[in-house]
Amino acid sequence: MSEKRVTFASKIGVVAAAAGSAVGLGNIWRFPSQTADGGGAIFILVYIGCILFFGIPLMVSEFMVGRASRANTAGAYHKLAPGTQWKWVGRLGVLTGFVIMGFYMVVCGWTLIYIFQSISGHLAGVTDFSSNFIDLQTNPAKQIVWMTIFTLLTAFFILSGVKKGIEQSAKILMPLLFLLLIVLAIRSITLDGAAEGIRFLFKPDMSHVKSTLFLDAMGQAFFSLSLGMGCMITYGSYFNKRTPLVKTAIQVSVLDTLVAVLAGVVIFPAAFALTANPGTIVGELVAGGPGLLFITLPELFNQMPGSMIWSTLFFCLLALAALTSTISLMEVVTLYIHEEYQVSRKNSTLIVTAGVIILGISASFSSSFFNFLDVASAKFMLPIGGFFISLFVGWHLDRKLVYAQLTNERTLKFGIGFLRTYIFLLRYVVPTAVLAIFIYGLAA
Ligand code: PHE
Repeated sequence: MSEKRVTFASKIGVVAAAAGSAVGLGNIWRFPSQTADGGGAIFILVYIGCILFFGIPLMVSEFMVGRASRANTAGAYHKLAPGTQWKWVGRLGVLTGFVIMGFYMVVCGWTLIYIFQSISGHLAGVTDFSSNFIDLQTNPAKQIVWMTIFTLLTAFFILSGVKKGIEQSAKILMPLLFLLLIVLAIRSITLDGAAEGIRFLFKPDMSHVKSTLFLDAMGQAFFSLSLGMGCMITYGSYFNKRTPLVKTAIQVSVLDTLVAVLAGVVIFPAAFALTANPGTIVGELVAGGPGLLFITLPELFNQMPGSMIWSTLFFCLLALAALTSTISLMEVVTLYIHEEYQVSRKNSTLIVTAGVIILGISASFSSSFFNFLDVASAKFMLPIGGFFISLFVGWHLDRKLVYAQLTNERTLKFGIGFLRTYIFLLRYVVPTAVLAIFIYGLAA
């Protein structure tokens, strides 16, 4: 690690890269299916609570650990807490990155398949979108090919380095995705029968509440904000000393939440409006789970003039949003192997790529293994990681270092009350809440 560490070039680049990591399939694919499963508006409310109470404080903490150590996730703990066992938190994060990539890359493969189905005109001719999706899910060979292509694509960006690979691509793609979602949302809410979908999204209905509501919403918050595995530690290590940590965390969280809710506004009104059987729609939505996006959306596109252009554009942008997330996931694991075991960046990328492809193959063959990877990472590994990160910053890190990082060496003005609240949240509120939700969710 003797070479000078690169940093992101501009303020906007920092936000774009971190938001690029956060915004991905978690928002557009996982959020709608979790919301359907969690009963709509109630789930969204709890989710937003999680973002405010743990999400933002934890993101600030991860940025801080990264910038203060300028190292990979595990190396960060070596540097800030030498000779202690904290390094295991970093190692758990690296393992989590692997587990997430194992199923995430498979969904990324689906997005590529849909791009081609769209360009070739296949999607425009489909009448039963559920069976179109099931055909794909029951075809491991096809999934493996596209999952592998996506993994190799990610590896290519990792090899081309931090600045060119991550920052530049995120800066252009994120705003484009946002715009397209707005156009689609408008189309979706103006369909006949869309009002039911809007109600499901925004009007809390206690009859849908599940006992695992809090665990599910917390898991989704961690997953969507890329928290709990050190992804934001790694990106924080590329921040310069003027990057405002609190402001950046708030900007990234707001953007991430906006995209997720927008995705909901695209999908639910359309799902309700386009169903043949409104009576069973909630049940169908839940059962449709992972397929929701890939079933409802193409159907929505077919209701629009120029459907092929819309669907191609959408799935391209979805693939690109996913790419900025897979880049961040792969970067965590690659940087760890590169820095901790003195393996060259290239070889480290090759090792990680091979590992991810092997996991992805297993997930393509078995949907229960796919679900296991999803649940294990989002509901277990990320919250456990987040729990320890909050303890680390709240209790272990020197108070002076924490204040210096928050205020950029006193160049930013925060009231002492703000700083105390932040420490209080990390010391008591975040760990207790995460633990309580965890135990309650497991017992449920
Ligand atoms: N936040 C990403 C998404 O929403 C997924 C992710 C999780 C990325 C954890 C990095 C770390 O798609």
